[in-house]
Amino acid sequence: MTPKSPDQSLSITEAAHIGDTIETHLLMMGQEIKDYQQQLRKSLRREERLRFDLEKTAIEAAAMLAKAVDEKDEYTAGHCERLAGYAVSLGRELDVPRNRIKQLRYAALLHDVGKVGVPEAILLKPGKLTDEEWVVMKTHPGIGAELVRSIYPLKPAAEIVAQHHERWDGKGYQKGLKGDGILIEARILSVVDAYDAMTTDRPYRKALSDEQAYEELQKCSGTAWDPEVVNAFMRCFLDVH
Ligand SMILES: [Fe+2]
Repeated sequence: MTPKSPDQSLSITEAAHIGDTIETHLLMMGQEIKDYQQQLRKSLRREERLRFDLEKTAIEAAAMLAKAVDEKDEYTAGHCERLAGYAVSLGRELDVPRNRIKQLRYAALLHDVGKVGVPEAILLKPGKLTDEEWVVMKTHPGIGAELVRSIYPLKPAAEIVAQHHERWDGKGYQKGLKGDGILIEARILSVVDAYDAMTTDRPYRKALSDEQAYEELQKCSGTAWDPEVVNAFMRCFLDVH
């Protein structure tokens, strides 16, 4: 087609031809965009599947490790699984956001995984620990947190693991955090961990009854434990109001 000077107008045939060409181009572009969207959706689905598989594998590996620690001590076998069940129910009762409940469950399953770094002589000692042995024992939340932090999908659970022996009054370990300065998930873990330990046979004492555990929890509500979490625990599990 010969280019026209500005004062020359297009004939109807020429205008129709240009219109057809533009329409064809637009149709082709539309198809390309559709194809591109389809490819994008496919790769997103593939990436999602990969992420899910990676998370599943990491969690299974970590859970196996936690189970191995759990089973070292016949008195605490099954402790982590029970804890995870209590913690999730309590988290829901206390309105912990849904996206954090999953990490609370992982933290409950893995809270004591750092005990892999504590010698069995200390871990399974039937009597009281010496001051030196306590120093070693108190390293387990930090070791556990580091381990959990190194598994990418479990990263958000690491700080809960690190704080699971903090106390409401600030006299816990590792950092001596206090009150609301402790993550709610860690305050929950602390209560359910204590309850499960109290109601399980230990080498040096028999399991406490629910009533005795209730009294213990009440006695230390406001010092060792967050009173709101203790009350929620009573409502959920001990049928006491
Ligand atoms: Fe612990």
